[in-house]
Amino acid sequence: MRQAGRYMPEYRAIREKLSFIEMCRRPEVAAEVTLQPVAAFDLDAAIIFADILLPLEGMGIGFHFAEGEGPVIEHPVRQASDLDAVRPAEPREDLPYVLEAIRLVRAGLHGRLPLIGFAGAPFTLASYIVEGGHSRAYALVKGLMYSDQLAWDRLMEVVTETVSRYLLAQLEAGAQCLQLFDSWVGALAPYDYEKYVAPYTRAVLARVSGRGAPVIHFVNGATGMLPLVRAQGGDVIGVDWRIDLDRAWDEIGHDVAIQGNLDPVVLLGPQTGIEERVADILRRAAGRPGHIFNLGHGILPQTPPDNVRFLVDAVHRLSPRVAG
Ligand code: CP3
Repeated sequence: MRQAGRYMPEYRAIREKLSFIEMCRRPEVAAEVTLQPVAAFDLDAAIIFADILLPLEGMGIGFHFAEGEGPVIEHPVRQASDLDAVRPAEPREDLPYVLEAIRLVRAGLHGRLPLIGFAGAPFTLASYIVEGGHSRAYALVKGLMYSDQLAWDRLMEVVTETVSRYLLAQLEAGAQCLQLFDSWVGALAPYDYEKYVAPYTRAVLARVSGRGAPVIHFVNGATGMLPLVRAQGGDVIGVDWRIDLDRAWDEIGHDVAIQGNLDPVVLLGPQTGIEERVADILRRAAGRPGHIFNLGHGILPQTPPDNVRFLVDAVHRLSPRVAG
C-alpha cells in the first residue's frame, strides 16, 4: 500500500516546497521520500514513490492534482473520437524519472529490503481517464463500456500496453516485486468484470509474471468475486478488510499467497485496538506461509506515525516465527 505520504512530517517538509507531481518527477526527491518510511519504521519492503496516474501524460492524457480535490484529467475520454490522440506511453521516454528513482532506491537500500514497483490496473486507470477524476457511481466509465464496446476495447488496449511496458521497464530498472492496483474494480458487477475488464488485467499479469519478481494483484471492494479475480493471475492477491482474511484465502485458494488486510482507519484509534486487530488477522493467517501483512487500502493523511510504528512492531512481535 502507500507507505510514504502526508501522515509523515518528513514528507510534509518536502511537500511544502514542491508539488506532488514535482516530487515524483525529481528522482532524487522520489528516492528520498521512498526511503523515509523505511528509515522511520521497521518495514519489510519499500515501495517506490510514484503514482498510478503518471503514465497518463505519455498516453497523451493531461492531468494535474487539484488541492483538496484529488486528480483531475484535463480532457476525459468520453467517446471514440476522444481516443484519436491517445497512444501507449513509452516508459523510457515518458517516465524516465520513475526508472531513475528505482535505480537510486536500489542503490540506497544496499539489498537490505526488497523494492516494490507498481502500476494501476486497466480498469482503475480507465476509470480516471473516462470519469475525469474520482467517482461515486462510475456512471461514465460503465456507460462507455456498455454503449460503445469498440471504443472501450480501444481504450483498454492502449492502457494494457502502457501498463505492461511500464511494469517491465520497472523490473529492468531494478524493481524486485510488482504490484498491480485495481483500486476501483469493486464498482463492477462480476458479470461486467468478467466481460469487459478481466481479459485486460489477465493480459498485463501474463506479460509481467514469471520473470523472477513476485506479482501482487491488489483489488479493493471485490470481495464478491475473489475467485474470478484470482483467475486473472498474480502470485499474491491483495484484499481489503471487508472480508475476513481466512475466508478470503479459502476463496482464492491456498496455492496463491495473500496480502492484507487491516482497515487503515483502525490506525486512527487506540493502540489496544490496533493490537487486537493484528492478533485477529494473524490468527486467521494461522502461521501458513504466504501471508503478507498489510493495510487493506492506503493510509490516511491524519494517521499518527506512532501508531504506524506500533502496528509494524506488533506484526513482528505477534507473528509466529517460522523455522529455517
Ligand atoms: O512511496 C509510496 O509509498 C508510494 C505511494 C503511492 C502513491 N500513490 C503516492 C501518492 C502509491 C502506491 C500510489 C498509488 C495510487 N495512486 C493509487 C492506488 C492505490 C490506492 O490507494 O488505491 C491510486 C488510486 C492513486 C491515485 C491518487 N493519487 C489519488 C486518488 C490521490 C489523491 C489522494 C489524496 O488523498 O489527495 C493521489 C495523490 C497521492 N499519491 C499522494 C501520495 C503520497 C498525496 C499527494 C500529496 O502530497 O498531496
